Amino acid sequence: MTQVDEIDLAGVDEVLSRFPSPEESDLIPILQQTQEAYGYLPAPVMQKISDVTRIPMARIYGVATFYAQFSFEPRAKHTIRCCRGTACHVKGISGVIDAIERELGIQEGESTPDLMFYLDTVACLGTCFLAPVIMIDDQYYGQLTAKRVGAILRSYREEET
Ligand code: FES
Repeated sequence: MTQVDEIDLAGVDEVLSRFPSPEESDLIPILQQTQEAYGYLPAPVMQKISDVTRIPMARIYGVATFYAQFSFEPRAKHTIRCCRGTACHVKGISGVIDAIERELGIQEGESTPDLMFYLDTVACLGTCFLAPVIMIDDQYYGQLTAKRVGAILRSYREEET
């Protein structure tokens, strides 16, 4: 399988070496450290974990899919969470989301091709007094307008240069 060839297993070997006699209770720390090493959990890496720990793949996937922190796809560097709650809706979040989608060329549930941003929406960010509000990673942007979106997103791209 080509994907196997593309994934360097040295990262997972290093993680597994920290667990000389791995038990099922080590599975979550192993998955956490593996995800830190790769940014997500590639299939060949999951297979390697199963081979070494002798924990069946189905069990490992069962655990990994239970926790939202684990991802099986490469993740974008920054996650944008737009609030779709009532307060934000009333204050015009739709225009903000449209502006983000236009600026990035993606829709909810998608990442930009350069894996810089992932766009998501949530029911309420719990900061309705900031409506309309979005979060980028752990940073809130409140009383947001469509006009400010471009500058905010560009500031993240500029950080990289
Ligand atoms: S409705 Fe948007 S933060 Fe609560």
